[in-house]
Formats: sequence, structure tokens, C-alpha cells
Amino acid sequence: MKKLILAGNWKMNKTIAESVDFANIFCNRVKASKHKIIICPVFTCVHALAQAFKGTNIDVGAQNVHFADSGAYTGEISANMLKDVGAKYVIIGHSERRQYNAETNEIVNLKLKKAIESGLTAIMCIGESLIQREKNRTFSVLKKQLTEGLTGITELDNIIIAYEPIWAIGTGKTASSEQIAKTHAGIKRVLKSIFGQQQSKNIKILYGGSVNNSNAKEILALKNVNGALVGGASLSAEKFSDLILSV
Ligand code: PGA
Repeated sequence: MKKLILAGNWKMNKTIAESVDFANIFCNRVKASKHKIIICPVFTCVHALAQAFKGTNIDVGAQNVHFADSGAYTGEISANMLKDVGAKYVIIGHSERRQYNAETNEIVNLKLKKAIESGLTAIMCIGESLIQREKNRTFSVLKKQLTEGLTGITELDNIIIAYEPIWAIGTGKTASSEQIAKTHAGIKRVLKSIFGQQQSKNIKILYGGSVNNSNAKEILALKNVNGALVGGASLSAEKFSDLILSV
């Protein structure tokens, strides 16, 4: 069985009480799983979940981080603050943040550097829009996101890539197995060209975008797919644990 990374991106959902209810059901159900399991809740639930997951096989991640250590950045949060409340991972450059919070590749790059320097593992999201795919620009978009986002980064040990085609996020449309396999292979090639064979060979690439209990098995069996970043289908403890146990 291939060991996968299965990360839940809760986006802006769940109160502390709801998160703890989730943990109470989820921990028990996935305790025999050999996969790497990560839940990324809203900031306010990171601490409660880190406590609830203590001694289990589940880690907690955040959904964003600032690139500065501290200072006059109203509404932001630093990598050390996230570590302080028990986060081990952080999602960086999710397409919703690129879209609604004007996160550019340069900002993603600064955030990645700060996260890994602080000892967090970063889940770097990349992905093309429907128009870009239709215009055959998928690879140039992904290459630019990877090249600019990873500028100046010399090792990939604490970076996971999540390929999430924007048109597949929250839409119920998943990329076909063929599209996913082809794109993941392309991402590997780009990483190899930037970092060389040795450095890039162990990089993990997750697929994200409407992954659910019916399609997970097929997607996760594909070559170069090392796991999934799951949004909507990670909100239910029962459903997400079923998904994890089925792959
Ligand atoms: P989705 O979200 O599974 O609800 O499509 C995935 C993501 O945005 O990470």
C-alpha cells in the first residue's frame, strides 16, 4: 500500500465546539491508518484540535501565514504563532487566497521561506483556471507558479505541492485521471529542472479539487499522486474517515 498524505482543508468552517466534536469521532476511526493525516482548520480551532489530536496519528495545519515575524500587520498571523498553538503544517497560496486576497507568486514565495525557516511544513498550492486550461496554458501557468513561488528555496524537504485546478475546487468537477496523471508528471519535470533529480525525487504532490469518497480511490492510485487536499469532503468526520480508510 502506498503511504499517502491526506489533508483536510476546512476553509472558513467550524467553531471550536464543532471541531472538538469532529475530533471525538475522527481520531478513533482513523487510528489504525498508516497514512499521514492532517486537518487544517481556521486559526481559532488550531489549538483545540492540536490538543484533541495529542498522542494520535493526526497533525494540525493552518490555512495561511504571514511572512513577517511580528509587527504592524493587522489581522495577520506569524509562523511562530502557529507553531505556538500546535500547528505543524500550513497551506500557502491556495487559489482562494490568490483570488480574494491578491496573493501573488512573490508573496507565496516569502511565505514559503518563512514557514520552512520556522520549522513548519508548507503545503504549496498551484493550479490553473478553466480559461487557462482551455487556452492550453496549464503548463506555463504551473511552471510560473512553481518557478516564482520557489525562487531562492534550496531544499524541498519541508514543502509539499498541492495541484488544485481552480475549476475543480468546490465544483463537483474533478480532473480526469488522465489529466491528473499528465499534470503531476509535468509538475515533477518542472521540479526536476529547478532542483535536479536528486533533490526533487522525493517531493510529494497532492491532488485537490472535489476529491470525495467516490473518486478518491482512483485518483490516489495514480502514479505521482502522493495524496489529496480535500475541502468539502473533509468536513464530516464519518465521511472523511471513510475516505481515508478506503485508500
Ligand atoms: P474541495 O476543495 O475539495 O471542496 O473542492 C479543495 C481545496 O480547495 O483545497
